[in-house]
Amino acid sequence: MHIVIIGATSGIAQAAVRQWASEGNSLTLFGRNASELERIAADARVRGASGVYVHAGDITSISYIEIAVAQLEKIDQALVAHGSLTKSQRVETDARYFADEININLVSAAVWTQLIANAMAKRGGGSVAVISSVAGDRGRYANHAYGAAKAGLTAFCDGLRAQMLDRKVHVVTVKPGPIDTPMTAHVAKKGALSGTSEQCARDIIKGLDKRRDVVYSPWFWWGIMRIVRAIPERIAKRLKW
Ligand SMILES: NC(=O)c1ccc[n+]([C@@H]2O[C@H](COP(=O)([O-])OP(=O)(O)OC[C@H]3O[C@@H](n4cnc5c(N)ncnc54)[C@H](OP(=O)(O)O)[C@@H]3O)[C@@H](O)[C@H]2O)c1
Repeated sequence: MHIVIIGATSGIAQAAVRQWASEGNSLTLFGRNASELERIAADARVRGASGVYVHAGDITSISYIEIAVAQLEKIDQALVAHGSLTKSQRVETDARYFADEININLVSAAVWTQLIANAMAKRGGGSVAVISSVAGDRGRYANHAYGAAKAGLTAFCDGLRAQMLDRKVHVVTVKPGPIDTPMTAHVAKKGALSGTSEQCARDIIKGLDKRRDVVYSPWFWWGIMRIVRAIPERIAKRLKW
């Protein structure tokens, strides 16, 4: 299988790359950090990948995305993984930062997904997994901007899944809870409620292979978010969480 990974330097994506490589797949890695991508590619080759191709560039630029996808010859599966944990306090005072964060987490991720899905549809089908977040299931005090971008990405994936149904392209929305990666290195750990990159990667790969619609990782965040969504707004708006 040929698998395309956007944001391949992400902790979660790297764990998926390791797994896909050990199964002998061929991989195309996109990211902004050339040397880190080369390191990940070298590791994937040692683990057994049948071919690894690296493309470093501004993966949040729409023109870069258009050119990159047009050059892809074969895509059986894809993972759109890049994202940034937006600082809510900075959003209050820095409008450009706010817009950039929405571009990273929503606009660029959605554009990659749309163009990859179009390319898959042209060649008879495929499956694309997109990493959204449980943060997109309900707006919260502590991450209003990040949550909004992820909510938009989740809604986009729902709609695209319906649009692509008859074109044999499947869209998997991945909603991780807290996962132990560089993104959350500075955040207090949630103990038993946290997951590892390896566990999340396994959930993503299973979701792609079994053509699941929505994958929570760890799985029990499905139940937690059901409760969170049920909290009446008059109470939720008072919670500093
Ligand atoms: N970790 C969690 O608790 C958690 C929970 C829910 C959802 N998620 C989502 O999971 C996905 C993967 O995150 P992770 O946890 O694996 O975190 P991570 O290791 O920090 O990875 C973040 C990835 O996004 C890329 N990125 C960030 N800003 C970028 C920019 N301006 N331009 C280009 N690339 C940029 C990073 O590239 P560089 O390596 O070059 O910096 C890296 O590949 C993200 O979409 C994140 O929102 C994570």
